[in-house]
Amino acid sequence: MARIRHFVLKVFLLNITVVAAYVEELDGTFKETRLNEPWLVEFYAPWCDYCKVFESVWYEVGAELKSLGSPVNVGKIDTTVHNNVASEFGIRGYPTIKLFKGDQSFDYKGPRTKDAIIDFTNRVAGPIVRPLTSPHLFQHVMSRHDLFFVYIGGESSLKEEYLKVAAEYIVYIHFFSAPENILPKAVTLQGVPTVAVFKDGTYYLYSEYEDGDLSAWVNRERFLGYQQMDSFTLYHMGETSKLVALAVVDEMNPSEESIRYKTLMERIATEYRNHYNREFQFGYMNGNAYINGLVMGEVLMPSIIALNLSNDGYYLPKQQIETLEDLVQFLDSILDGTAQLLGGNGFFQQIHRTVYNAKSTLMSMFQNAPGFVCLLLSLPLGLVVFVLYGICTAVPDDSSQSDSSPLLLQSHSEDTQGATSAEQKAEEQKSSEAKKED
Ligand SMILES: *[C@@H]1O[C@H](CO)[C@@H](O)[C@H](O)[C@H]1NC(C)=O
Repeated sequence: MARIRHFVLKVFLLNITVVAAYVEELDGTFKETRLNEPWLVEFYAPWCDYCKVFESVWYEVGAELKSLGSPVNVGKIDTTVHNNVASEFGIRGYPTIKLFKGDQSFDYKGPRTKDAIIDFTNRVAGPIVRPLTSPHLFQHVMSRHDLFFVYIGGESSLKEEYLKVAAEYIVYIHFFSAPENILPKAVTLQGVPTVAVFKDGTYYLYSEYEDGDLSAWVNRERFLGYQQMDSFTLYHMGETSKLVALAVVDEMNPSEESIRYKTLMERIATEYRNHYNREFQFGYMNGNAYINGLVMGEVLMPSIIALNLSNDGYYLPKQQIETLEDLVQFLDSILDGTAQLLGGNGFFQQIHRTVYNAKSTLMSMFQNAPGFVCLLLSLPLGLVVFVLYGICTAVPDDSSQSDSSPLLLQSHSEDTQGATSAEQKAEEQKSSEAKKED
């Protein structure tokens, strides 16, 4: 048994060293050497716990890029030792991942998984705009990517603009160029040059007249019409300044209602695309944890909610959404300003958010290490009791003694306040629903 364990440990350690071999520990000279070859670099700090968790992913990235024959080198820099490098590249958070290509650098902002990072590296390390030269290649790209942009036509000022926009958005999405004659037969153009986005099983053409700036159009069109969302996608969608309409569902317990909500979201994204595409992004989210944090309360599952990510505001439907018409009514009430904006980033909301975040951090700490949190909380509480005791004994006055208990009670009752306000919200909603039905 012990021998087996020893063997397993040895293999495990061997694996780590083999894998770690493809990640180079970089130093201050990187500022100059980076110009020679492409580099994918993690900026880390030894005190960053998450960086330690992430380390194994990083080693796998290094090993896989090597085995794929990628020309990109993988490295990491301890920013506490080489802080001149960190300040040169404006590193503010840990870990930060950047790809360096010549004198350009590209920030990685996606989920920190091996596949997503490798996808990013392959996309950004190659030519920013990849020419497609045959119908076969075009089909291949269509089968591999859910969403991509294509410039169609020869040299033009639009193409120059396209190259600029592609350099800006290559960190998120693929950009290609193609001559008109290799496109699938089903694609009909108004003329060339033009730019198209292929997504949602169809394609949409850019029109300077209707869509304005190419960069703004690409920014608006770089998400699928309807898709699953997580905190990362929401973060990026914030940059499009569109509102996000979501079905919040529990995929572990799919109810009839949650399936209906998802279907309604998908239908509105396709059937009402022309109507809402400029203002709304549609999708669904599995689990309500993230949304609860945003609204600082408990959102039931399933629910429909619309978010304004620019100001942390949100909208809830006043009544149960049963049909597509109900959903249209809800979205229109947001656009015409009759729906009530909840949350937001006003002064009091920000204070509320700080308190809420502190409370949830404490709650999750309590779940992981209850003893420690009790100790943490009992310190100030003990101090209060101590001070009160001091006051009471120094001034033998009955009135101050009776003051002490409400104070202590209050600090206990605060714990339940979050739940109470969520209940209140639910109550209010119910009563407003009741009014509607009258
Ligand atoms: C979302 O919030 C921003 C910032 O407050 C605001 O300018 C914008 O009009 C809001 N969008 C909608 C559709 O209400």
